[in-house]
Amino acid sequence: MTDVRARLAVVFGGAGFIGSRITQALCEAGWRVTVIDGFLPRTGATRANLSGCLNDIQLIASRAEDVAGLAELVENAIVVDAMGWTRHREASEDPAYDLALNVASHLPVVRAIRDGRPKLVFFLGSRHQYGRVLAARINEDTPLAAVDVHSVHKIAAELHYRLVTNAPVISLRFGNTFGPGQPMTGDDIGLIGGFIRTLLEKKPVRLFARSRRMPASRLTMSPDTT
Ligand SMILES: NC(=O)c1ccc[n+]([C@@H]2O[C@H](COP(=O)([O-])OP(=O)(O)OC[C@H]3O[C@@H](n4cnc5c(N)ncnc54)[C@H](O)[C@@H]3O)[C@@H](O)[C@H]2O)c1
Repeated sequence: MTDVRARLAVVFGGAGFIGSRITQALCEAGWRVTVIDGFLPRTGATRANLSGCLNDIQLIASRAEDVAGLAELVENAIVVDAMGWTRHREASEDPAYDLALNVASHLPVVRAIRDGRPKLVFFLGSRHQYGRVLAARINEDTPLAAVDVHSVHKIAAELHYRLVTNAPVISLRFGNTFGPGQPMTGDDIGLIGGFIRTLLEKKPVRLFARSRRMPASRLTMSPDTT
């Protein structure tokens, strides 16, 4: 008989761009998935992101801070913390909102994993936590370097996780992700989002010879990130 406890997953931020891809993949692999998502403004959260698995998951449409009994929920589960706010430019204009989503959101999860003994925890960090280091040079010894509001908060959230010394936490500091489910509304959807939207809208793409360059190694398609 299958040990169902080994196949429990809790995905925080599971209605967002990347969280929903992970949720979908877990469902397809037969996991019992609970999604906690507050469908927060200016994030990638939509119900449509979960349309392929809405009937197979337990959806708690609430901010993580307001969910009671999180420690029990994560007991024996795989936890994926995909909450956050990815708008770097807007973060500089509204640091309090970035602080709320990229730091405060994670504190109840950190407390829950301290008390609830999950099997494994994945915190979705960001390559941006390394600052402006070239991709080829990054390894486990590369120091973190905050360069803006967003990276200050991403590093802070990861440090909160590290304070829970006995928890099996893996921080994934991955780079720009694109692909199905990618947010396409708003002004600050990043270099790749903006580029793809321009193409989809059949507008001319402007190229600048001496502008920002992004090595292909920094880009991941969402199924690969998942
Ligand atoms: N998208 C990228 O290219 C990329 C690259 C590197 C790292 N990341 C990281 O991956 C994570 C997910 O990114 P994304 O692109 O899916 O973002 P997203 O905006 O699509 O999803 C974030 C989700 O978190 C939810 N959320 C935020 N705070 C919450 C709270 N307190 N309670 C409940 N739900 C809450 C939002 O409602 C939203 O559904 C983020 O931590 C981000 O920093 C993303």
